[in-house]
Amino acid sequence: MDPRQRLIVALDVSTPAAARKIVAAVGDSALTYKVGMQLYTAEGPPAVRELVDSGRRVFLDLKYHDIPNTVGAAVREAAQLGVSMLTVHASGGGKMLRAAVEAALAAKLNLLVLAVTVLTSLDDGDLGKIGLRGGVLDQVLRLAALALSNGCHGVVASAQEAAALRKEFGQEFGRDFAIVTPGVRPAGSGHDDQARVVTPAEAIAAGASHIVVGRPITEASDPAAEARAILGQIG
Ligand code: C5P
Repeated sequence: MDPRQRLIVALDVSTPAAARKIVAAVGDSALTYKVGMQLYTAEGPPAVRELVDSGRRVFLDLKYHDIPNTVGAAVREAAQLGVSMLTVHASGGGKMLRAAVEAALAAKLNLLVLAVTVLTSLDDGDLGKIGLRGGVLDQVLRLAALALSNGCHGVVASAQEAAALRKEFGQEFGRDFAIVTPGVRPAGSGHDDQARVVTPAEAIAAGASHIVVGRPITEASDPAAEARAILGQIG
């Protein structure tokens, strides 16, 4: 697989000008950009359309979580925008996940619906406070099973969770189930505010199919060189 198929650059900026600058600087070293709630809230659909129109793939990370009808409708709109991947919260339940997947299948081939299991900012104590028994990993495995059984095309998970997921569901996932892993830092670089980080090679070895990298690329003095270095580590 071309390592560029595995790299997703997070565009965590607030203006189209800032996004354009990063995309231009990265050049051909990345094919896919993650648009999250910051850029989407600031600039909305035009920011996504511009990327799609320029031939880039967009991972729309808005983490939908609502009633099935509403999420299905939102997924249809995202498909219209031309995004290639999007996120929903697995904790929205099986009917919601199924509605998202059906909307994606009806609208467009190859729109990946990825389920977010447990946010990595939450620990076992936080789960207890929102009424969940058991630890984070139990919950991740439970929600990944729900995502799988409702047709989702993958999950977002830390590298640590990726390894546990591959171990638990290796067979059922099949070849194409995506595990998209953030919290990736090239060997030897700083951690920013990420508490637990892995290198690109470690993430892929743990079972990630895609890695999301933000600041190490977007804030580098030479984003293309940084992206190429990462590709070299996962190629
Ligand atoms: O700059 P950095 O590489 O830390 O960016 C990582 C991206 O992945 C950010 O957009 C962040 O919101 C997202 N993310 C994360 N950890 C998660 C889920 C998403 O860092 N568990």
